[in-house]
Amino acid sequence: MSVKLGEIVPNFSADSTEGPMEFHAWLGGSWGILFSHPADYTPVCTTELGRVQALSHEFRKRGVKLAALSCDSTESHRGWINDILAYNNLTEFSYPIIADPDRDIATLYGMLDPDEKDAAGIPLTARAVFIVGPDKRLKLSILYPATTGRNFDEIIRVIDSLQLTATKKVATPVDWKQGGSCMVVPSVKQEEVAGLFPKGVKVHQVPSGKVYLRTTPQPE
Ligand code: BEZ
Repeated sequence: MSVKLGEIVPNFSADSTEGPMEFHAWLGGSWGILFSHPADYTPVCTTELGRVQALSHEFRKRGVKLAALSCDSTESHRGWINDILAYNNLTEFSYPIIADPDRDIATLYGMLDPDEKDAAGIPLTARAVFIVGPDKRLKLSILYPATTGRNFDEIIRVIDSLQLTATKKVATPVDWKQGGSCMVVPSVKQEEVAGLFPKGVKVHQVPSGKVYLRTTPQPE
């Protein structure tokens, strides 16, 4: 199974470095990110989990809870955290790493990478990211292969976009960053624009003559 955009993400119970976890209860009414890595004690994963810790204040500021996951045991995760801290010059590790040795959660969420196997030939998790909204619905997912580390500044950028567009009738254009100009979504009728966007809307003229490129300063 895999999780579809807009659907309520599957619930699960698991052990983690912070004790037993029931995913939906752990999320509560918060935004959350569940992200997987192929294996503990591997180089790229060590940089990724360190970077997430270094950015943890940014996630906290945005009200986003973090949970990592791999097919290794809780005991393995706990030992590896010491390496993550040392390699990345960190002093604390503030988010749980979920243990999924039987691949139950990985299978439920469609995180397994058929090209990446453990010593016994069993598939490992790819570098998946699931961003879940306060309604427990999937807002965004990405899937990277084991050989390509993720860019967590990009994950923060997409959270800013997801949180903005959850309440305002805008979409964020290519390379948008917090504070940048936004696009009015196509479903907004031209006669609604003035009431919805007090900062003003610019309609960009294009050869087709169609009115669809409408920019506005980022709404408050
Ligand atoms: C890594 O984290 O470095 C890694 C893990 C599995 C395959 C390739 C790289």
